[in-house]
Amino acid sequence: AYNERESLYIVQSFAKDLFVKNLKDTDEGRSIGLSYFKERGFNQSIIDKFDLGYAMDSWDHLHNAANKAGHSDDILLKGGLILQKEGDPSRKYDRFRGRVVFTIHNLAGKPIAFGARILTNDKKQPKYINSPETAVYHKSDVLYGIYQAKQAIRSQDNCYLVEGYTDVVSMHLSGIENVVASSGTSLTENQIKLIKRFTDNVTVLYDGDAAGIKASLRGIDMLLEGGLNVKAVVFPDGDDPDSYSRKVGSEAFRQHLQDHARDFIAFKVDLYAEESANDPIKRADTVRQVVQSVAKIPDPLTRSVYVKESARLLQMEEDIVLTELNKILLKAQ
Ligand code: GTP
Ligand code: MN
Ligand code: MN
Ligand code: MN
Ligand code: MN
Repeated sequence: AYNERESLYIVQSFAKDLFVKNLKDTDEGRSIGLSYFKERGFNQSIIDKFDLGYAMDSWDHLHNAANKAGHSDDILLKGGLILQKEGDPSRKYDRFRGRVVFTIHNLAGKPIAFGARILTNDKKQPKYINSPETAVYHKSDVLYGIYQAKQAIRSQDNCYLVEGYTDVVSMHLSGIENVVASSGTSLTENQIKLIKRFTDNVTVLYDGDAAGIKASLRGIDMLLEGGLNVKAVVFPDGDDPDSYSRKVGSEAFRQHLQDHARDFIAFKVDLYAEESANDPIKRADTVRQVVQSVAKIPDPLTRSVYVKESARLLQMEEDIVLTELNKILLKAQ
């Protein structure tokens, strides 16, 4: 007999196979799911690499197929693949219906969860529906794409961090494999530890909208606190790595990353300095914002290097930056 964790791995793997088969071998999957992926520029080999699939537009397609294959309702519920109807728990229905499916793998490549994207513009439905937490899926410990990226992260000695599933897939299509996604939530300490197993260098590529910039600022500070070297790339407003790479093509996309990857300090200085050049109060605020991040760096030597660099970019005396830094460090004690 299997324990719960083993049974969960087995049932998620079953679901992955079913979603993949739906996409390839059914009329509905091909005409709706596969054509959606093709429209986004995804080819068969990338679909295979990421175990992309399709959940049939049905209340019980997975439920029935799984029962037939011997998976109990108990384990399907625990795996978050089916749900119980509120007020009538004997009635059960599939969680993922009529959506394309992104399989989430653990570090060893086992399917542990799914993210399913809607195919219409129905704003009343969530764009993505994700698996719930289970005994084998702790959202805050997982980075989407880590299994497909780990070797490249090690060999490139850098990890690109993006927001979305489609950004990861799209970057592989552009020939960049050292990329993982935080999947729209704020970074956690465990996710940072996971990256640190493979590299000390992270380049943040969040969406070029207000939410993305806010998230990247928070992410940068967390990464610095984790002792990583952090760069960031900004995309034009409204673009994310996926949309931008499709707009300009793989070659220009890779060039953009080369040309625009800047140290977190330059990133922050630019961000705050744009409107503040002639406003002394805003300028002071820029200094404070930059020094806040420098203060997160745990290693004192690295920190002093960044004091120098901040002073240069902010066009301030080093002493002033240092005084501000010490103030923050004292407060943090
Ligand atoms: P596309 O619109 O298909 O290009 O997806 P995207 O990845 O660009 O989506 P977006 O930038 O809106 O969100 C980034 C990531 O946040 C997604 O890949 C998901 O992981 C997550 N996310 C977005 N919308 C939702 C949602 O409605 N529910 C949940 N649970 N997660 C979401
Ligand atoms: Mn049943
Ligand atoms: Mn976004
Ligand atoms: Mn996006
Ligand atoms: Mn997108």
